[in-house]
Amino acid sequence: MEKHTLNNKTAIVTGGASGIGLATARLLASHGANVVIADMNRSAGITETNAISSLGHKCIFVETDVRIPQQVKCLVDRTVESFNSADILFNNAGVEIHATIHEMSEEDWNAVIDTNLKGAFLCSKYTIPHMVRRGNGVIINNSSLMAHLTLPGYGAYSASKAGLIGLTKAMALDLATYGIRVNIISPGSIDTPHMWIGVETSELNAIKVACAETQPFGRIGKSDEIAKVVLFLASEDASYITGSEISVDGGLGARIATSR
Ligand code: NAI
Repeated sequence: MEKHTLNNKTAIVTGGASGIGLATARLLASHGANVVIADMNRSAGITETNAISSLGHKCIFVETDVRIPQQVKCLVDRTVESFNSADILFNNAGVEIHATIHEMSEEDWNAVIDTNLKGAFLCSKYTIPHMVRRGNGVIINNSSLMAHLTLPGYGAYSASKAGLIGLTKAMALDLATYGIRVNIISPGSIDTPHMWIGVETSELNAIKVACAETQPFGRIGKSDEIAKVVLFLASEDASYITGSEISVDGGLGARIATSR
């Protein structure tokens, strides 16, 4: 894709201080977009924003908890004050908390649903009026293979990610007449800090090797491989795609499981 595809576009990347969001922030910036990293991790957000800016790209950090409406409103206000538009929104911030439903606290349930699903609603709600004003825009939500195929203890996470798929389709229909496209990606196993939550450092390498062996390609996905799909969906090359889900799972979702 041409390096200047996103010139004069402004992209908000939630959860942009780490993993998939960071890879996407870097890639969109390298293709000419003004990038706003929105993350609740202030120190990582500042460090990564400085690193992107030092390459000559326009990038700002806005400390944001996507669960909190006032903070999301400030994020969008800061974006438009800084760059005069908000053209691309990547709703990527997400958390996983594992517990069977009867053992899960209401607090943990809310943390997962409020971050992964309500956060996307809030960021979209406050960004859309600016897209409507300009008569175009692109929203990309980040679901998961776990919206379709799940594991014990993933009730809240899978519910949040399946909810995002329904939200994406409904928003695509709500917004088509305004020239706004809304799509969703569903990654499989991607090598980011999120993937290894709860794993002891001493066991990390062995677990990564074991996880790679379960993948059809014999390896785990890279954040860049997700970022490239977000770039495509954000670009004019995807001009007739809305309400769609793209799986980026290395074939994991195509396989019939042979173990529990
Ligand atoms: P990560 O843990 O590397 O990055 C997540 C970022 O989101 C962090 O910087 C964190 O501070 C931020 N964040 C968390 N809660 C937030 C909140 N309330 N407000 C603002 N920022 C918040 O994780 P990763 O893997 O890059 O995950 C990104 C998205 O990709 C998540 O939605 C996740 O569910 C999804 N995903 C990841 C997969 C994987 O294998 N890594 C697979 C499928 C989906």
